Amino acid sequence: MQPDTLAMDAAGYLSIAGIRVADLARRYGTPLYVFDLETLDRRLAAYRVPGLPVPVDVYYAGKAFLCTAMAGFLADRGVGLDAVSGGELFTALAGGLDAARIVFHGNVKTPLEITQAVEAGVGAVVVDSLDELGPLAQEARRQGRTVPVLVRVTPGIEAHTHAFIRTGQYDSKFGFALTGGLAEAAVQAVLAEPALRLIGLHSHIGSQILDLEPFVANVEVLMGFSRHLARRYGWWPQVLDVGGGLGVRYQPEDDPPPTAAVLEAMARAAVTGTPAGREPPRLAVEPGRSIVAEAGVTIYRIGAMKTVPGGRRYWAVDGGMGDNIRPALYQARYQALVDGRRGPPEETVTLAGRYCESGDILIQEARLPAAAVGDLVVVLGTGAYNYAMASNYNRVPRPAVVTVRNGTSRVWVEREGYSDLLRLDRPWEPW
Ligand code: LLP
Repeated sequence: MQPDTLAMDAAGYLSIAGIRVADLARRYGTPLYVFDLETLDRRLAAYRVPGLPVPVDVYYAGKAFLCTAMAGFLADRGVGLDAVSGGELFTALAGGLDAARIVFHGNVKTPLEITQAVEAGVGAVVVDSLDELGPLAQEARRQGRTVPVLVRVTPGIEAHTHAFIRTGQYDSKFGFALTGGLAEAAVQAVLAEPALRLIGLHSHIGSQILDLEPFVANVEVLMGFSRHLARRYGWWPQVLDVGGGLGVRYQPEDDPPPTAAVLEAMARAAVTGTPAGREPPRLAVEPGRSIVAEAGVTIYRIGAMKTVPGGRRYWAVDGGMGDNIRPALYQARYQALVDGRRGPPEETVTLAGRYCESGDILIQEARLPAAAVGDLVVVLGTGAYNYAMASNYNRVPRPAVVTVRNGTSRVWVEREGYSDLLRLDRPWEPW
């Protein structure tokens, strides 16, 4: 739920990695995204499980949070990347990630993105539609390369999660359904193309999944399909990329299975599903949220408070849906703390944002100690899909991203200024 180094002293003052939240707010301003590097390292380390029956390679899902320094951090820690756009690929390369450790995704890949991916020499392109096969093969031939490919299948598994972020059912804009011979036709098409080399299959079943079973079912389905392809075409996967999706604790009642348990169960399913005479495929995983969500918090300052007729109490802060769209988009729920206010919750408050929209509510019914205008509120678990989905709605500049470790802080992304808002604008000309 919160960074591992988050602490509250006897007076209720909060710190992360030994730095007072108030000092971070003073130095960098608010709203402010703060990432605890120690927590990032620990969440990554959880994916390194010794003694698994098949190797598991980690490709962090950049869509959850990516910037140049984050890419550098991943490169430094020897982790790969799931990139879903030319922009993510560009950022990853700028940050020093090895292209061979990048898996390139997208249900629509523009001609430019295909050229970028082939030129960079990404470790694999995940093929999502028949329509991209021709252009991809053509580009591979033009550059005289053979491109490693994964075919993305939709395995028809219903993971229990918010419907908006479920991507594994047959009726999905992603990949090829396993029913009706669609995925098989895609495999055939790739196998028939000499400029492409089919190294494996891909399937992502959803996000914020709090059960172990759907992950195992996903591997079982992919193994079953692989056995079919082996019988039919003599082809067998070197790798099964099972996507991301492992959930985190946003609320006290959220109870995700330990990462190691999920990896062990999936690795076992890969071994069990391998017929005699074949080598079990290695697994690839693409965790996003489970690496970054809990490492990140957002610090806001309370700007206004009121009680409306009927009794509802509002605290309004200096950020909101521009830096965290998830409550408005998914009814996502967050926990918050107030800096310097120790003690039992005394108020039930609606934590509202500053954007010009009634739906800009960060937390519906937060139970918090009494506070005052000017106090800092820390919203927990905002490391994933917050900065990544931030906008300039209302022409509000986006916050800075700061990382902390052992009493020191570093800026990973500068706060936007008003001049950034005008950077791409052209002046009015009489017209
Ligand atoms: N791999 C693929 C192919 C994906 O589509 C995703 C997420 C991931 C990996 C990473 O999943 P994670 O480990 O983070 O669950 N904006 C939504 C989440 C969208 C997830 C889309 N795909 C949110 O804020 O909850």
